[in-house]
Amino acid sequence: MIGVFDSGYGGLTILKGFLDLMPQYGYLYLGDSAHAPYGNKSLKIVFEYTRQAVNFLFSQGAELIILACNTASAKALRKIQQEWLPGHYPDRRVLGVVIPLAEAAAEKSRRGRIAVIGTKATVESGVFNQELHKLNPSLKVFGQACPLLVPLVEEGWVGKPETNMILKKYLRNLKSKSVDFLIPGCTHYPFLKKDIERIMGKNCKVLDAPGIVADKLADYLKRHPEIEIMLSKKRERLFFTTDDPDRFKVFGESFLGSRISEVIAVSL
Ligand code: DGL
Repeated sequence: MIGVFDSGYGGLTILKGFLDLMPQYGYLYLGDSAHAPYGNKSLKIVFEYTRQAVNFLFSQGAELIILACNTASAKALRKIQQEWLPGHYPDRRVLGVVIPLAEAAAEKSRRGRIAVIGTKATVESGVFNQELHKLNPSLKVFGQACPLLVPLVEEGWVGKPETNMILKKYLRNLKSKSVDFLIPGCTHYPFLKKDIERIMGKNCKVLDAPGIVADKLADYLKRHPEIEIMLSKKRERLFFTTDDPDRFKVFGESFLGSRISEVIAVSL
């Protein structure tokens, strides 16, 4: 099965992208709501929570795990791949969302001026800058942390004047840099895509993060038939949370845009 991990419900936007494009596979989703948000936590803590989550998803039968959480991808992925995985699950894989998004932006940007928005932890990690510059050293990258956006989306305040005002304030500096691409580097931002596009204007494209991550995963599975062959094609959908399962179900259904039949509470 494909494991999908996030700090909470947000990663369900990424899971939705997978389900739309590749419904044939079995999926395990874990939201670490007991420890969310990750966006303002230290590297040490994000790594430790993510490592426990990855260990749990492997123990439940995942062969491949996607860290849908940008913060976990930015802060924990490399260490998990390089230091933890080889000693624990050498034949399994953990992937993130930063590289697919960086690749898409680098491929599509015409003028090479790219904005990245995300949690404080993601933007301050500089990981998007590093990956974009690995792909093309001449790219100009401008980051902006937007810590208030996750709680506003979770409050259901998308489209409210207060949210648009805050969004405008966050985006003002990026707009003045004449960026031609914006990477929404956080699981919650797909809900704000239209508002971001309107504020940034027609000369700036906003990446469709769930669509891109799903396309890149499909491409990865084509290039790695040895992994694809191991994945279940029985269409399982299993949801785990480290906090209240009833609450997860209510929020989760609105993030996923479809019904969730059961949520299992776990402690890591
Ligand atoms: N899932 C996180 C991300 O994509 C946002 C929520 C959090 O801060 O935990 O960065």
